[in-house]
Amino acid sequence: MLSRPLAEPYRIKMVEPLKITTREQRQELIKSAGYNPFLLKSQDVYIDLLTDSGTSAMSDNQWAGLLLGDESYAGSRSFDSLRQAVQDVFGFDYVLPTHQGRAAENILFLTMVKEGQIVPNNMHFDTTKAHVIQKRGRPLDLVTDIAYVASDTSPFKGDMDTHKLDQVLTNQRDDVPLVMLTITCNSAGGQPVSMANIREVSKICKKHGVPFFIDACRFAENAFFIRERERGYENASIADIVREMFSYADGCTMSAKKDALVNIGGFLATRDEKIYRAAMVWCVLFEGFPTYGGLAGRDMEAIARGLYEVLSLDYLAERIGQVRYLADRLREQGIPLVEPTGGHGVYIDAQKMLSHIPKEQFPAWALSVALYVEGGVRGVEIGSVLSGRRPDGENDYARMELVRLAIPRRVYTDRHMDVVVAAAAAVRDKASAIPGFRFVEEPPILRHFTAKFEPVGGRTGVLF
Ligand code: F0G
Repeated sequence: MLSRPLAEPYRIKMVEPLKITTREQRQELIKSAGYNPFLLKSQDVYIDLLTDSGTSAMSDNQWAGLLLGDESYAGSRSFDSLRQAVQDVFGFDYVLPTHQGRAAENILFLTMVKEGQIVPNNMHFDTTKAHVIQKRGRPLDLVTDIAYVASDTSPFKGDMDTHKLDQVLTNQRDDVPLVMLTITCNSAGGQPVSMANIREVSKICKKHGVPFFIDACRFAENAFFIRERERGYENASIADIVREMFSYADGCTMSAKKDALVNIGGFLATRDEKIYRAAMVWCVLFEGFPTYGGLAGRDMEAIARGLYEVLSLDYLAERIGQVRYLADRLREQGIPLVEPTGGHGVYIDAQKMLSHIPKEQFPAWALSVALYVEGGVRGVEIGSVLSGRRPDGENDYARMELVRLAIPRRVYTDRHMDVVVAAAAAVRDKASAIPGFRFVEEPPILRHFTAKFEPVGGRTGVLF
């Protein structure tokens, strides 16, 4: 395991004050938010681990780039910076800037997916799945079965089951317009995909003549794990590993809000001129002219710089080292986690931690509320509230009840992480007194964002 640098490989030039609330204030605040952490004001959150997306601190070099942004409608110099960075880092010649990752998905699937067609992925992220469905396609998750076993410590739990992929393509080749691979695999706990798996997926796609795209959000974190865990890469540079990973693909969608270290942005990139030309039409319609797409020139400039910065081994060792620091401290406190620790966050197994709460009362939701009350920490439920309902109206209970603590890049210190650990330990100490929740208001779609809840039963005294 590559050791973490002695301290952060950067120093702090600007600070953003945080408000520290009392437990009593937080009890009131979460109650007025309908016990939904999404409805809290961010100023009332001390340590915000809702997402690692768009929450990074940019470097001085990126901020400097903002001032150099060329805001021309066509032929912007900042587009050239972005195109150059994408060519250098990923090896793709054609780039369409988009306002964020899901916009790249929208354009790609509009270009490629027809009604009834199947899109295999190791594990679709929610927006990717929703965009396939919106084009009347059928998302198919083909991640290996171990991804669903929280305690399994295999090194590459994000791998796709290539046997299943080959079967699908052998039997239904004409129904599959493209294959995707999400690296790292967010929905399975930020687990990486091995180079061997990327290579094999690519080989199978080539055999069947199907385009292969990568959902590249956390590509540098994935490359770090390959360097650390896969034979033959221990001395390779991250840049070389990334180039090899993408050499097997026809293109990628990217949410720059993750591993490009910016607060907004994304792109679709490909080596296939035909796909690029077809996608360009949709880009103009939904995002903007192809040399700015959904972005200001200054944002393209910041992304271009972020794409090079994220390749630093010191940066990645610190970044992933901090995620591990949090996981190690939580484990010491007996908090059950998804193993091994992933790249961008720690996932707590809420079903295990709050085993007295039945799934009908949403244990992971209860844990996310309890962490806020105890420490002002905001995580996100990845469980049955998020899963929503099936077409027959029943709750579509999730296979795992998790709370994700996603860590923004270059934002918090280890002492902030210690506060998170203390909050989790306090929840553990009173676990059996923590109530489940039921809906008071439940919107028909994407219910987790705006639903309101109340604690179930009479045992709410301890926390609420
Ligand atoms: N793909 C993956 C794997 C993601 O994690 C995300 C976003 C997207 C695509 C969409 O990108 O937000 O820029 O439109 N994930 C965020 C998260 C929202 O919190 O995990 P976007």
